Amino acid sequence: MSTPRPAAVIVLAAGEGTRMRSATPKVLHRIGGVPLVGHAIRAARATRAEHVGVVVRHDRERVVEQCAALDEGLVIADQDDVKGTGRAVECGLGALPADLSGTVLVTYGDVPLLTGDTLVELTVAHTETGSAVSVVTAHIADPTGYGRVVRDADGRVERIVEHKDATPDERAITEINSGIYAFDADVLRAALAEVGTDNAQGERYLTDVVAIAHAAGHPVRAHVVDDLWQTEGVNDRVQLAALGRELNRRVCEAHMRAGVTIVDPATTWIDVDVSIGQDTTVLPGTQLLGATSIGRDAVVGPEVTLTDTEVGDGAQVTRAVANLATVGPGATVGPYSYLRPGTRLGARGKIGGFVETKNADIREGAKVPHLTYAGDVTIGEGANIGAGTVFANYDGVAKHHSTVGRHAFVGSHTVVVSPVEVADGAYVAAGTALTADVGPGQIAVARSRQRNVDGWVERARPGTATATAAAQARARHPQPRPDAPEGTET
Ligand code: UD1
Ligand code: CA
Repeated sequence: MSTPRPAAVIVLAAGEGTRMRSATPKVLHRIGGVPLVGHAIRAARATRAEHVGVVVRHDRERVVEQCAALDEGLVIADQDDVKGTGRAVECGLGALPADLSGTVLVTYGDVPLLTGDTLVELTVAHTETGSAVSVVTAHIADPTGYGRVVRDADGRVERIVEHKDATPDERAITEINSGIYAFDADVLRAALAEVGTDNAQGERYLTDVVAIAHAAGHPVRAHVVDDLWQTEGVNDRVQLAALGRELNRRVCEAHMRAGVTIVDPATTWIDVDVSIGQDTTVLPGTQLLGATSIGRDAVVGPEVTLTDTEVGDGAQVTRAVANLATVGPGATVGPYSYLRPGTRLGARGKIGGFVETKNADIREGAKVPHLTYAGDVTIGEGANIGAGTVFANYDGVAKHHSTVGRHAFVGSHTVVVSPVEVADGAYVAAGTALTADVGPGQIAVARSRQRNVDGWVERARPGTATATAAAQARARHPQPRPDAPEGTET
């Protein structure tokens, strides 16, 4: 028998979330790299429901824009001036086909740890028990603020009473309403029509549907969950951090179970869409963000932040920051380097220490080992860029591109004034300010020639320790070292 699918999931996201004290609507705050409402939409989609609707009101345009970016097929439902979760669901139903029948799930846009699996289990249990209403409940030590589940003499769910409306006896109940439900669509529609506003907040409560359905003789059941995190909502930034940490713990655990070594999950932050291959090691203080993907047998960290970055099999990235970059298989990066968007490091290539790259296509086996800025460059296979080289790509008005050919060698402390082309198999002498192209097999030298002035120290600095050292050295080695012949200097 195939798993039953809900007809619709309605995600409530119209509330303001004042306790966040934020200019950003609550459901757009992120954990695990995804807005809170995005987590709710993903869980809803996992049920393979025919329709997924999001009920919006507060900061409508921003919420709708982000929701649409996350999921094109969403139904957007606008809640009007009438307040309450009951009205929100009514507006949600109003945006769906009028003849919708079957199971309708209701979830919240601010309950990010609820999983698709739980919603599937809820749907299955709801269907198999032939229930009209299934309320997801949990037993918690401090139920303050939650709606309480009131059961009848036979232990069946009779109604839900909001904390603000509850008597002292009812407040002593520790089974709470999570706010997640499965409803039969027809029962829900009929019951919502009867929901009034006679309560402490003057709102149309969705929770009243439970009592109305029960009174009408429909089967109502509680779907008790043990994993309390899954029912927890975000109301303020303290809860945002707590749920963010728990989500991260779960993500790290899933990677570890799949064969990734995470040395210190407490200081490792991995967004939900990151993929990591088997036998890769993630060292402490590392953040893997956005759509980052790491291959197998790689070592990442310590203290690496990768955003939307791809790292190949067997690569090593140490104390580096990368954004929209690609690191090829077997390549090495860091320590202390910054890979900006458009950096592509080829297989077994190297970006060493204190290197910044941007729009840099560094091909297979090429090395940029030390203290370099490489922006708007192509560096050919097997080429070597000397320490302290700067590609001066910006003339104050426009950016220019330079190319270094295959197996070319750029000496240390070169400034490449782009645009120039260094051909395959060419050399650039150390300390050169390169302004013109270099042909295959040529060496370019652009710096003033060295001149040694005999006897200068004794004349200009007589009586100093330096002058004494010079005299002693001359006594031992009367011949000064000759100038290096032209063309061997690099
Ligand atoms: C609600 C439940 C309560 C339950 C608790 C669980 C009701 C009346 N009470 O209370 O029993 O224990 O959730 O967290 O349902 N929303 C709208 N439109 C509205 C009002 C709310 O879309 O007019 C959305 C909010 O954005 C939020 C969710 O519904 O995502 C819950 O609203 P909230 O005001 O937080 O409900 P609670 O008072 O916490
Ligand atoms: Ca709430």
